Amino acid sequence: MNEDTQIKQPPVQSDQQAPHPDLEAQVAKHCRTRWLKPIPEHTQKTFDYATAWLAERGNPPLVLDSFCGTGMSTKRLAEHHGDAAVIGLDKSAHRLTKHANSSDQYLLLRAECEPFWQLLKSSNMKVAHHYLLYPNPWPKSSQLKRRVHGHPGFPILAHLGGTLEMRSNWQVYAQEFALACALIGFEGTLEQMKVTAPWTLFEKKYGERNHALWCFKGIFSG
Ligand SMILES: C[S@@+](CC[C@H](N)C(=O)[O-])C[C@H]1O[C@@H](n2cnc3c(N)ncnc32)[C@H](O)[C@@H]1O
Repeated sequence: MNEDTQIKQPPVQSDQQAPHPDLEAQVAKHCRTRWLKPIPEHTQKTFDYATAWLAERGNPPLVLDSFCGTGMSTKRLAEHHGDAAVIGLDKSAHRLTKHANSSDQYLLLRAECEPFWQLLKSSNMKVAHHYLLYPNPWPKSSQLKRRVHGHPGFPILAHLGGTLEMRSNWQVYAQEFALACALIGFEGTLEQMKVTAPWTLFEKKYGERNHALWCFKGIFSG
C-alpha cells in the first residue's frame, strides 16, 4: 500500500461523530445541582500551600494551567504572563516529577483539578487566565461524564471567570467544549490552529503526527 492509498485514521477513534446528544441536558443538570463530592485531603493541603504561595507574592493575577502534565506549558505561560503567578495542576506525580526547571513565578502542584477549582470558588478567588491544554478525550460516547465539560464540576469555571483556552486534537471534543462553555456564560470562538512552537508534550506529539488541532478561546461574560 503506498502513501496515497493508505486509509488515514482520524486522530481520535470514537463512536461519536458529532457533539453528544445529551451534552446540553448534562451541563444544565450540573448547573442546577450542587456538586457535593468531598474535597480530597491532599487537594485541600495543596490548595492551602497554593494560597500561602500566592499571598507571599502579594496575590498577583492568577493563571491556571489545569491538566498540565509535565508542566512544559506552565513554564511557557509564566514567561508569557510576566505579571502573573502561574499554577500548573495535574493529578499525576509521575508526570510532574519529569519537570526539570523551577522558578519563583510558577508552581506545579499535584491535585485533582475539579476539587481545586471548587476550593478557589469557595474562597471567592478569581482566575485571570485559565488554560486546559489537551485534557483526556474519553472518546467513547458512554464516557461523556468523564470529559471536562461533562463533569459535575464544570460549571465552577464560570465562578472563576477570566479567559479560558482549551486545546484538543479531537474536533468533536472541542465543539462540545465550546457549546458547554456558552451554556455557562463564556463567549468564545473555536478555530483550527497551526502550531509553530509546541506549548506541551502532547501538542508536540500531535504536531509530529500531523493531527489537526483545535483551540477554543473564550471570556466569561456572565
Ligand atoms: C492528555 S494529558 C495532557 C497533558 C499536557 N497538558 C500536555 O498537553 O502535554 C492529560 C493530563 O491530565 C491529567 N488529568 C486527568 N484528569 C485529571 C484531573 N481530574 N485532575 C488533574 N489532572 C488530571 C493526566 O494526569 C494527564 O497528565
